[in-house]
Amino acid sequence: TKTEAAAFDVFGFEPVEANVKDTITLPKDYQWQPLVSWGDPMWSQGKAFDADKLLDCAAQKLAFGDNNDGMKHFTVQGRELLAINNEYVNFAGFFSNRKSTAPETVDDICKTMEAVGVSIIEIQETEAGWQLVKDSPFNRRITAQTPMEITGPARGHALMQTKQDPLGVEALGTWANCGSGKTPWGTYLTCEENFNGFYATEATDFEINDDLKRYGLAHKGYGYGWHEVDVRFDLAQTPNEPNRSGYVVEIDPSKPNSKPKKRTALGRFKHENAEMVIAKNGQLVVYMGDDERGEFLYRYVSQNSYKAGADIDDLMENGTLSVAKFAEDGSGVWLPLTPDTTGMSLAEICIHTRQAGSKVGATTMDRPEWVAANPNKAEVYCSLTNNKIRGLEPNKGGDEQSVGGPNPRAANKYGQVVRWIPEDGDHAADKFAWNLFVLAGNPQVHASGLEAGSANVDVSNMFNSPDGVHFDSQGKLWIQTDGKTSNQGEFAGMGNNQMLLANPQTGEIKRFMVAPKGAEVSGFAFSHDRKTLFVGIQHPGEWGIESTFPYGDVPRSTVIAIRHKDGHLIA
Ligand code: FEO
Ligand code: CA
Ligand code: CA
Ligand code: CA
Repeated sequence: TKTEAAAFDVFGFEPVEANVKDTITLPKDYQWQPLVSWGDPMWSQGKAFDADKLLDCAAQKLAFGDNNDGMKHFTVQGRELLAINNEYVNFAGFFSNRKSTAPETVDDICKTMEAVGVSIIEIQETEAGWQLVKDSPFNRRITAQTPMEITGPARGHALMQTKQDPLGVEALGTWANCGSGKTPWGTYLTCEENFNGFYATEATDFEINDDLKRYGLAHKGYGYGWHEVDVRFDLAQTPNEPNRSGYVVEIDPSKPNSKPKKRTALGRFKHENAEMVIAKNGQLVVYMGDDERGEFLYRYVSQNSYKAGADIDDLMENGTLSVAKFAEDGSGVWLPLTPDTTGMSLAEICIHTRQAGSKVGATTMDRPEWVAANPNKAEVYCSLTNNKIRGLEPNKGGDEQSVGGPNPRAANKYGQVVRWIPEDGDHAADKFAWNLFVLAGNPQVHASGLEAGSANVDVSNMFNSPDGVHFDSQGKLWIQTDGKTSNQGEFAGMGNNQMLLANPQTGEIKRFMVAPKGAEVSGFAFSHDRKTLFVGIQHPGEWGIESTFPYGDVPRSTVIAIRHKDGHLIA
């Protein structure tokens, strides 16, 4: 109730200290429990997770995927669902040979293809806490094999055609699913980020052209071996296949048999998330970051307006993509990407979106991660996580990365959060004003200057590499980190990754949670009654940092549920 919400100040908690413990640390009076971890069976014919045997590919097909990242909550027919991204695979403790850090068998490779994508689960609160509802008709796995409709301007274009799909209208699967979004009509948006590393080729004479290079394609990928079992992933054999990933995919969690739709109108890049708002006049606006050093910040505006009975496919297929250009004086403008401004066709703009952005002179950014729109006012936040080559090297596509504007530091190791206010409070307007909400830094190591961070950073709340930014229903901004956890040198005193709560009006920031070792914090949702906050703990134990989270054995990416012990509304 309103009274209850007013009686409890979510911002009133005692901040937690930085630490390097291998567990979750919360303020006094808050409790957590694991909700679902990599490998938990979603159906009763699946196998209970066994840390000694681990899963084979067949068992993974029936189980929650790895590396949970972005997620959203849905209430469907009074039942609570979470749609959760499974971004990639944490090779430590994943393969059938538990000691191995690379796939050794065809079944290992198959298992990685089944461990990525999206998991949709029904959840329920019981006396024993929150639980996954096994065998729910809504439970669904979407993997690297799930057929998807290609929609929008790029559908059917020559660059989208392959031997397996000569019409260029149906792609198989999604992976590298990073951030997420939710539409007002109740569907889920999953965003393909580091898709490039899943392609490779043994053909050393295959030429990686500039268009492939701009997207990071290379002879050697991340070591998944997918090209060894499926020609789709062999660059030399199927050079157009990478043009079919790097999109935002729309999924309807209320219809478990529905075919996901790749929305090419929203552009192709290393999509972080898709923050959707409705502009004053009803046009649909989607803000999106491209998480790569020196890449851009994007906005999509639908041609038509969202209203009851609107044609959703039209709204998601017909619109204009723009890129942000920031000026030193605190002003900014969205530059439209059209055939006129770029000399490219609409389809090409949607496939080679980065190249289009370069043509109009967009501002190169310090790795734009999540974007979050304030529900209480027309104001938008984006975390710029870090950029070790700012001021030193051009990005992969060749754009220079000068120091200044919203990217004020060379070799930026700590990151910042930029915010902008659209002109006239209109998200569809072409102009905006911007400022930095927080410049992360280390005031323990640097007494003053830009490396010490902005005025709202002190030794009690310092952090590096902001990543997830999420507004709750009370208009507070949650900031999640994915950074350096050495706790030494430039990062001394920062401890493990963390989640902080910020007051957008005052700029005040307090540390709410510290994550276990080697994990980043990614994924944010709250229950229907707003008394439980679901938070993603991704890849505990990554990069050889030893972790046994959450069950004292093999480290497992996990969604946790956080509550106040007295059951207050916390989100
Ligand atoms: Fe998957 Fe940019 O984080
Ligand atoms: Ca991640
Ligand atoms: Ca991220
Ligand atoms: Ca990140």
